[in-house]
Amino acid sequence: MGYKKLIRFAAIKEFPHVLEYPRDMPGKWAQFFKNEHPITLELACGKGEYTIGLGELYPQHNFIGVDIKGNRIWVGASKALNAKMSNVAFLRSHIELLPTYFNKGEVSEIWITFPDPQLQSSRAKKRLTHPRFLSLYREILTPDGILHLKTDSPDLYAFTLDVIQFFGLPLLESSDNIYASPQVSKELSIKTHYESLDIARSKKVHYIRFRLNERLSDEALTLSYKAHLENLIAREQSSIQ
Ligand SMILES: C[S@@+](CC[C@H](N)C(=O)[O-])C[C@H]1O[C@@H](n2cnc3c(N)ncnc32)[C@H](O)[C@@H]1O
Repeated sequence: MGYKKLIRFAAIKEFPHVLEYPRDMPGKWAQFFKNEHPITLELACGKGEYTIGLGELYPQHNFIGVDIKGNRIWVGASKALNAKMSNVAFLRSHIELLPTYFNKGEVSEIWITFPDPQLQSSRAKKRLTHPRFLSLYREILTPDGILHLKTDSPDLYAFTLDVIQFFGLPLLESSDNIYASPQVSKELSIKTHYESLDIARSKKVHYIRFRLNERLSDEALTLSYKAHLENLIAREQSSIQ
């Protein structure tokens, strides 16, 4: 590991607003932030541009960036510390462990910003909008909680819309090119590191806003989704050959 990474790993251990695989946090976030303001998570936050940007826009809300990479979290956490932001925190952990940190209904919104699209079909289960992840989010979100996905990947966008349709999730907004719109909201104008890299080379930023529902925990529907996804993958593979 590089020297810079080691320094950053050591630094975040001393930051009061960075928690690494914390224990006993469910139900304690209001105590942590010293207020009862609603909590929004940024998943796969990287350097935490949304956590910071939304934190600046909405001082009456609390924001927590979640990522596994401590050296990236250090960037956002240092900015929050320098700006003395009391409504921003970072959680270094696997996203898969979210329900061990939050009680049911403790989170009111989730942003997923430029997650790895996991394009290989064998990795579909790792996509952060796969029903496996959505049902985890449902465990911690308020019943009317909102999810936002911002991505440059047309494939992840199409995949997520398909999941939404399959489970009948309430779709609030979708766009395959947000910057084509004459007016872009303050939230959507926040740019992340990966947004500027345009790795998917789509030159388009896609956005979906939606809610979850109880069908995500329906076992029969989850099983039939598995067959549906296998079908989609088989069709995709035969069109490539
Ligand atoms: C493509 S980067 C995007 C970072 C940032 N949102 C941006 O737009 O610049 C994806 C991030 O997801 C994180 N990540 C991927 N899978 C994760 C998981 N299961 N748990 C926690 N973090 C994860 C990676 O560490 C990485 O920082």
